[in-house]
Amino acid sequence: MTATATWLKRKVRAVDPADFYTGIVAELYGPLKAVSQDPAPYAAFVQEAGAPALELGCGDGDPLLGLRRLGLDVEGVDSSADMLDRCRRRARAEGLDVTVHHQRMEALDLPRRYRAVFLAGPTFNLLPDDATALAALRGVRAHLAEGGTALVPLFVPSPTPAEQFGRVRTATADDGAELRVSVVSEERDESARTQTTLLRYERHHGGGSTVVDRPWTIHWHSREGFESLAATAGLTAVSVRDTTEATLQEYRLRSTD
Ligand SMILES: C[S@@+](CC[C@H](N)C(=O)[O-])C[C@H]1O[C@@H](n2cnc3c(N)ncnc32)[C@H](O)[C@@H]1O
Repeated sequence: MTATATWLKRKVRAVDPADFYTGIVAELYGPLKAVSQDPAPYAAFVQEAGAPALELGCGDGDPLLGLRRLGLDVEGVDSSADMLDRCRRRARAEGLDVTVHHQRMEALDLPRRYRAVFLAGPTFNLLPDDATALAALRGVRAHLAEGGTALVPLFVPSPTPAEQFGRVRTATADDGAELRVSVVSEERDESARTQTTLLRYERHHGGGSTVVDRPWTIHWHSREGFESLAATAGLTAVSVRDTTEATLQEYRLRSTD
Protein backbone atom coordinates (compact mmCIF):
# COMPACT_ATOMS: atom_id res chain seq x y z
CA MET A 1 0.00 0.00 0.00
CA THR A 2 1.42 3.41 -0.96
CA ALA A 3 0.90 6.64 0.87
CA THR A 4 -1.07 8.01 -2.10
CA ALA A 5 -3.34 4.96 -2.08
CA THR A 6 -4.31 5.74 1.48
CA TRP A 7 -7.15 8.12 2.12
CA LEU A 8 -8.04 9.32 5.53
CA LYS A 9 -11.36 10.69 6.67
CA ARG A 10 -11.11 12.24 10.10
CA LYS A 11 -14.08 13.87 11.73
CA VAL A 12 -14.32 15.45 15.13
CA ARG A 13 -17.89 16.50 15.76
CA ALA A 14 -19.88 17.15 18.90
CA VAL A 15 -22.91 14.89 18.86
CA ASP A 16 -26.01 15.00 20.96
CA PRO A 17 -25.39 12.39 23.70
CA ALA A 18 -28.48 10.46 22.55
CA ASP A 19 -26.82 10.09 19.12
CA PHE A 20 -23.45 8.87 20.40
CA TYR A 21 -24.12 5.25 19.33
CA THR A 22 -24.64 6.01 15.63
CA GLY A 23 -22.56 5.59 12.46
CA ILE A 24 -19.08 4.18 13.06
CA VAL A 25 -19.75 3.82 16.82
CA ALA A 26 -22.75 1.55 16.14
CA GLU A 27 -20.67 -0.44 13.66
CA LEU A 28 -17.86 -0.93 16.16
CA TYR A 29 -20.09 -1.44 19.21
CA GLY A 30 -20.71 -5.19 18.75
CA PRO A 31 -17.20 -6.30 17.72
CA LEU A 32 -15.52 -4.09 20.36
CA LYS A 33 -17.99 -4.81 23.16
CA ALA A 34 -16.01 -5.73 26.27
CA VAL A 35 -18.92 -7.62 27.90
CA SER A 36 -22.35 -8.72 26.72
CA GLN A 37 -25.15 -8.20 29.22
CA ASP A 38 -26.10 -11.54 30.78
CA PRO A 39 -29.88 -11.91 30.28
CA ALA A 40 -30.35 -13.99 33.48
CA PRO A 41 -30.76 -11.15 36.05
CA TYR A 42 -33.10 -9.24 33.71
CA ALA A 43 -35.13 -12.40 33.02
CA ALA A 44 -35.44 -12.85 36.80
CA PHE A 45 -36.55 -9.22 37.16
CA VAL A 46 -39.20 -9.55 34.43
CA GLN A 47 -40.46 -12.85 35.88
CA GLU A 48 -40.80 -11.20 39.29
CA ALA A 49 -42.24 -7.83 38.18
CA GLY A 50 -44.37 -9.26 35.38
CA ALA A 51 -44.92 -8.67 31.68
CA PRO A 52 -45.13 -6.88 29.39
CA ALA A 53 -41.67 -5.42 29.91
CA LEU A 54 -39.69 -2.64 28.25
CA GLU A 55 -35.92 -2.26 27.98
CA LEU A 56 -34.75 1.35 27.64
CA GLY A 57 -31.53 1.72 25.61
CA CYS A 58 -31.78 -1.80 24.18
CA GLY A 59 -29.16 -1.01 21.51
CA ASP A 60 -28.23 -3.94 19.29
CA GLY A 61 -30.12 -6.43 21.42
CA ASP A 62 -28.31 -7.50 24.60
CA PRO A 63 -30.08 -8.64 26.75
CA LEU A 64 -33.35 -7.99 24.83
CA LEU A 65 -32.85 -10.83 22.35
CA GLY A 66 -31.86 -13.25 25.11
CA LEU A 67 -35.13 -12.41 26.88
CA ARG A 68 -37.12 -12.90 23.67
CA ARG A 69 -35.36 -16.27 23.24
CA LEU A 70 -36.80 -17.22 26.66
CA GLY A 71 -40.25 -16.32 25.33
CA LEU A 72 -40.65 -13.24 27.57
CA ASP A 73 -42.88 -10.40 26.33
CA VAL A 74 -40.24 -7.65 26.26
CA GLU A 75 -39.98 -4.69 23.88
CA GLY A 76 -37.06 -2.30 23.40
CA VAL A 77 -36.51 1.43 22.96
CA ASP A 78 -33.40 3.15 21.67
CA SER A 79 -32.46 6.59 20.34
CA SER A 80 -30.11 5.14 17.71
CA ALA A 81 -31.70 3.90 14.47
CA ASP A 82 -28.34 2.30 13.59
CA MET A 83 -28.30 0.22 16.79
CA LEU A 84 -31.94 -0.79 16.25
CA ASP A 85 -31.16 -1.88 12.65
CA ARG A 86 -28.49 -4.17 14.07
CA CYS A 87 -30.88 -5.48 16.69
CA ARG A 88 -33.56 -6.26 14.07
CA ARG A 89 -30.98 -7.96 11.82
CA ARG A 90 -29.73 -10.14 14.68
CA ALA A 91 -33.34 -11.05 15.56
CA ARG A 92 -34.12 -11.94 11.92
CA ALA A 93 -31.00 -14.10 11.68
CA GLU A 94 -32.24 -16.09 14.69
CA GLY A 95 -35.88 -16.18 13.62
CA LEU A 96 -36.91 -14.16 16.70
CA ASP A 97 -39.83 -11.71 16.72
CA VAL A 98 -38.79 -8.43 18.32
CA THR A 99 -40.61 -5.10 18.76
CA VAL A 100 -38.34 -2.09 19.10
CA HIS A 101 -39.17 1.61 19.11
CA HIS A 102 -36.95 4.42 17.85
CA GLN A 103 -37.43 6.98 20.63
CA ARG A 104 -35.45 8.85 23.23
CA MET A 105 -36.18 7.65 26.74
CA GLU A 106 -36.59 11.29 27.85
CA ALA A 107 -39.44 11.68 25.33
CA LEU A 108 -41.07 8.28 25.71
CA ASP A 109 -44.47 8.00 24.04
CA LEU A 110 -45.69 4.44 23.59
CA PRO A 111 -49.25 3.06 23.47
CA ARG A 112 -48.64 0.19 25.95
CA ARG A 113 -48.15 0.20 29.72
CA TYR A 114 -45.57 -2.16 31.22
CA ARG A 115 -45.29 -4.18 34.43
CA ALA A 116 -41.50 -3.99 34.17
CA VAL A 117 -39.35 -1.17 32.75
CA PHE A 118 -35.58 -1.60 32.97
CA LEU A 119 -32.17 -0.55 31.76
CA ALA A 120 -29.47 -3.21 31.41
CA GLY A 121 -26.34 -1.82 33.00
CA PRO A 122 -25.83 1.88 33.70
CA THR A 123 -27.35 3.21 30.44
CA PHE A 124 -29.33 5.80 32.47
CA ASN A 125 -25.97 7.48 33.22
CA LEU A 126 -25.85 8.42 29.49
CA LEU A 127 -28.54 11.04 30.11
CA PRO A 128 -26.27 14.07 30.31
CA ASP A 129 -27.97 16.26 32.95
CA ASP A 130 -30.62 16.22 35.68
CA ALA A 131 -33.31 17.79 33.46
CA THR A 132 -32.97 14.99 30.90
CA ALA A 133 -32.84 12.36 33.66
CA LEU A 134 -36.03 13.80 35.20
CA ALA A 135 -37.81 13.77 31.82
CA ALA A 136 -36.83 10.09 31.41
CA LEU A 137 -38.10 9.26 34.91
CA ARG A 138 -41.41 10.98 34.14
CA GLY A 139 -41.62 8.84 30.98
CA VAL A 140 -40.93 5.70 33.03
CA ARG A 141 -43.66 6.69 35.49
CA ALA A 142 -46.16 7.34 32.69
CA HIS A 143 -45.46 3.95 31.06
CA LEU A 144 -45.67 1.79 34.21
CA ALA A 145 -48.82 -0.30 34.53
CA GLU A 146 -50.51 -0.26 37.93
CA GLY A 147 -48.26 -2.07 40.40
CA GLY A 148 -45.39 -2.06 37.88
CA THR A 149 -41.70 -1.78 38.80
CA ALA A 150 -38.76 -0.01 37.15
CA LEU A 151 -35.13 -1.15 37.50
CA VAL A 152 -32.46 1.52 37.06
CA PRO A 153 -28.78 0.59 37.56
CA LEU A 154 -26.50 3.58 38.19
CA PHE A 155 -22.78 4.06 38.75
CA VAL A 156 -20.27 6.77 39.54
CA PRO A 157 -17.45 6.63 36.97
CA SER A 158 -13.82 6.72 38.00
CA PRO A 159 -11.45 8.90 35.99
CA THR A 160 -9.70 6.90 33.26
CA PRO A 161 -6.22 5.98 34.57
CA ALA A 162 -3.45 7.97 32.83
CA GLU A 163 -1.77 4.85 31.42
CA GLN A 164 -4.94 3.98 29.49
CA PHE A 165 -4.88 7.15 27.37
CA GLY A 166 -3.89 6.22 23.82
CA ARG A 167 -4.10 2.47 24.55
CA VAL A 168 -5.87 0.87 21.59
CA ARG A 169 -8.45 -1.93 21.71
CA THR A 170 -8.86 -3.73 18.38
CA ALA A 171 -11.31 -6.10 16.77
CA THR A 172 -11.94 -7.44 13.28
CA ALA A 173 -15.17 -6.64 11.43
CA ASP A 174 -17.06 -9.27 9.38
CA ASP A 175 -15.58 -7.82 6.18
CA GLY A 176 -12.02 -8.10 7.57
CA ALA A 177 -11.64 -4.40 8.44
CA GLU A 178 -9.52 -3.57 11.49
CA LEU A 179 -11.56 -1.71 14.11
CA ARG A 180 -9.92 0.33 16.85
CA VAL A 181 -10.97 2.46 19.79
CA SER A 182 -8.82 4.50 22.19
CA VAL A 183 -9.14 7.28 24.76
CA VAL A 184 -7.85 10.66 23.55
CA SER A 185 -8.67 12.93 26.51
CA GLU A 186 -11.08 13.35 29.40
CA GLU A 187 -12.76 16.16 31.33
CA ARG A 188 -14.47 15.74 34.66
CA ASP A 189 -16.81 18.30 36.20
CA GLU A 190 -17.62 17.41 39.82
CA SER A 191 -20.26 20.13 40.19
CA ALA A 192 -22.18 19.13 37.05
CA ARG A 193 -21.45 15.45 37.90
CA THR A 194 -20.27 14.73 34.36
CA GLN A 195 -17.26 13.01 32.88
CA THR A 196 -16.70 13.46 29.15
CA THR A 197 -14.22 11.13 27.51
CA LEU A 198 -13.10 11.86 23.95
CA LEU A 199 -12.93 8.47 22.21
CA ARG A 200 -11.24 7.82 18.88
CA TYR A 201 -12.95 5.23 16.67
CA GLU A 202 -11.07 3.91 13.65
CA ARG A 203 -11.85 1.60 10.76
CA HIS A 204 -9.01 0.51 8.47
CA HIS A 205 -9.69 -1.60 5.41
CA GLY A 206 -7.55 -2.03 2.31
CA GLY A 207 -6.28 1.43 1.47
CA GLY A 208 -9.06 3.29 3.28
CA SER A 209 -9.33 4.58 6.81
CA THR A 210 -12.05 6.38 8.72
CA VAL A 211 -11.20 8.04 12.03
CA VAL A 212 -13.88 9.69 14.17
CA ASP A 213 -13.33 11.39 17.54
CA ARG A 214 -16.53 11.45 19.57
CA PRO A 215 -17.21 12.72 23.12
CA TRP A 216 -18.87 10.20 25.44
CA THR A 217 -20.59 11.80 28.44
CA ILE A 218 -21.47 10.07 31.69
CA HIS A 219 -23.63 11.93 34.23
CA TRP A 220 -23.83 10.56 37.74
CA HIS A 221 -26.16 10.97 40.72
CA SER A 222 -25.88 10.78 44.48
CA ARG A 223 -28.41 8.47 46.09
CA GLU A 224 -30.29 11.43 47.60
CA GLY A 225 -30.17 13.31 44.30
CA PHE A 226 -31.54 10.38 42.30
CA GLU A 227 -34.28 9.62 44.83
CA SER A 228 -35.29 13.27 44.80
CA LEU A 229 -35.53 13.28 40.97
CA ALA A 230 -37.53 10.05 41.14
CA ALA A 231 -39.89 11.58 43.73
CA THR A 232 -40.44 14.63 41.48
CA ALA A 233 -41.37 12.20 38.70
CA GLY A 234 -43.87 10.40 40.96
CA LEU A 235 -41.65 7.40 41.73
CA THR A 236 -40.40 5.95 45.03
CA ALA A 237 -37.27 3.85 45.45
CA VAL A 238 -38.58 0.65 47.05
CA SER A 239 -35.08 -0.85 47.19
CA VAL A 240 -31.48 0.06 46.43
CA ARG A 241 -29.10 -2.85 45.98
CA ASP A 242 -25.32 -2.90 45.59
CA THR A 243 -24.50 -5.36 42.80
CA THR A 244 -21.55 -7.73 42.59
CA GLU A 245 -19.92 -5.13 40.35
CA ALA A 246 -19.09 -2.97 43.37
CA THR A 247 -19.58 0.34 41.57
CA LEU A 248 -23.13 -0.38 40.38
CA GLN A 249 -26.27 0.32 42.42
CA GLU A 250 -29.66 -0.97 41.30
CA TYR A 251 -32.73 1.11 42.12
CA ARG A 252 -36.18 -0.43 42.02
CA LEU A 253 -38.85 2.21 41.60
CA ARG A 254 -42.62 2.13 41.91
CA SER A 255 -45.25 4.72 41.33
CA THR A 256 -45.81 6.92 44.40
CA ASP A 257 -49.63 6.90 44.05
C1 LIG B 1 -24.10 1.10 26.23
S1 LIG B 1 -25.35 0.87 25.00
C2 LIG B 1 -26.17 -0.55 25.69
C3 LIG B 1 -26.87 -1.33 24.64
C4 LIG B 1 -27.32 -2.72 25.06
N1 LIG B 1 -28.32 -2.68 26.12
C5 LIG B 1 -26.14 -3.57 25.50
O1 LIG B 1 -25.96 -3.78 26.70
O2 LIG B 1 -25.39 -3.99 24.62
C6 LIG B 1 -26.43 2.18 25.40
C7 LIG B 1 -27.61 2.32 24.44
O3 LIG B 1 -28.44 3.36 24.96
C8 LIG B 1 -28.90 4.13 23.88
N2 LIG B 1 -29.22 5.48 24.36
C9 LIG B 1 -28.37 6.45 24.76
N3 LIG B 1 -29.04 7.56 25.11
C10 LIG B 1 -30.36 7.27 24.92
C11 LIG B 1 -31.56 8.02 25.09
N4 LIG B 1 -31.54 9.28 25.51
N5 LIG B 1 -32.75 7.41 24.81
C12 LIG B 1 -32.79 6.13 24.37
N6 LIG B 1 -31.67 5.37 24.16
C13 LIG B 1 -30.48 5.94 24.44
C14 LIG B 1 -27.74 4.13 22.89
O4 LIG B 1 -28.16 4.48 21.59
C15 LIG B 1 -27.21 2.72 23.04
O5 LIG B 1 -27.76 1.85 22.09
